[in-house]
Amino acid sequence: MNIVVGVTGGIAAYKAVNVIRGLVLAGHDVHVVATDAALRFVGKPTLEAISRNIVHTDLYEGVAEVRHVAIGQAADLIVIAPATANSIAKLAAGLADDLLGNTVLASRAPVVIAPAMHTEMWQHPATVHNIDVLRSRGVTVVGPAVGQLTGADSGPGRLEEPDEIVRAALAVLEPKDLVGRRILVSAGGTREALDPVRYLGNRSSGKQGLALARAAVARGAEVTLIGANLEVQTPASMRVLHVGSTLELAAAMRDAAPEADVVIMAAAVADYRPESVAEAKIKKETTGDRLTLELVKNPDILAGLGESRGPGQIIVGFAAETEQDRDALLALGRAKIVRKGSDLLVLNRVGWTEGFGTEGNTVVVLDRLGDIVMEASGSKQTVADRILDAVVARFA
Ligand code: C5P
Repeated sequence: MNIVVGVTGGIAAYKAVNVIRGLVLAGHDVHVVATDAALRFVGKPTLEAISRNIVHTDLYEGVAEVRHVAIGQAADLIVIAPATANSIAKLAAGLADDLLGNTVLASRAPVVIAPAMHTEMWQHPATVHNIDVLRSRGVTVVGPAVGQLTGADSGPGRLEEPDEIVRAALAVLEPKDLVGRRILVSAGGTREALDPVRYLGNRSSGKQGLALARAAVARGAEVTLIGANLEVQTPASMRVLHVGSTLELAAAMRDAAPEADVVIMAAAVADYRPESVAEAKIKKETTGDRLTLELVKNPDILAGLGESRGPGQIIVGFAAETEQDRDALLALGRAKIVRKGSDLLVLNRVGWTEGFGTEGNTVVVLDRLGDIVMEASGSKQTVADRILDAVVARFA
């Protein structure tokens, strides 16, 4: 895609470099339009090196090729980061006194802005009004975050993290093929208490489940995420419920599942829990050289959801296996999808260095007949989108 990144003149302009880099690394052709003020905060050579394209600033350059409209006409998406209070006011008024203003007016592409300014400026009625105007025009506003500002003060007005801006911007380009669908995702790993301070758990971070939830939001779904001990931050764009143990997760899933068109069980669930939880911390002075734990089986949440599924509901299970041999891994998956009664099963290999907690993933998705419907490898976000492709295909 051709993405125009507008950089306006705020201190946070230095962070625009990471936004540009994220978009380039995602495979896009990025063209930077920087205001004169922006170039007081970040150097043109940096923007050119990172974007791998010439940086445009001057309205009166490239006039023969009618550059002031050509850049906007060619854009598939415009991202303005940071967007200062002044640039937001100009956008709201439709001013075209600089190259960025002309580019926006000459474009039919969606616009995403990431405001950054001091709290007083963000909360000023003029800015509040201008943001309302832009939102009513369909502009996507990312952030601002609440946190440390340029000076010693903190509050709302901090530029959203570059990764989040990239994600939100690319989400605008996603197909909206899950509009009107309600998707329930479980993520993370359950923990079974032994005593007030200890638990039996697993190394699932919740990254793959969160990536699925994010991807579903980007495609227009209404998403509920049930997070078991998540090690990742959740965005405001979805409903999030936090749970700890398998029994808590089971109860939360049972409550939420009847409302869902799709249930994705990405959480790593403990198969067993301690039969009893000690009231006080277990002490080695009293337990001695050996400690035996008596465990009881947890309910299989996924299998239960399969049995009580609503009409037309699609259920997606996961199978994290340490099996190294591909055929043996597939055989395990084929047996599991039948046992669990899910429609799709996402099979991935986990181990000391694979799967749990990592940034990337490699999966095979099976259907109930045991056929491979999809295989994907890449970032957890990429894998999430491919898994949703398989879900969407089932709706069709
Ligand atoms: O049997 P196994 O743990 O390999 O199955 C994995 C799938 O089943 C995952 O989707 C996991 O969320 C789900 N599961 C469950 N309840 C359990 C154990 C696993 O829902 N007690």
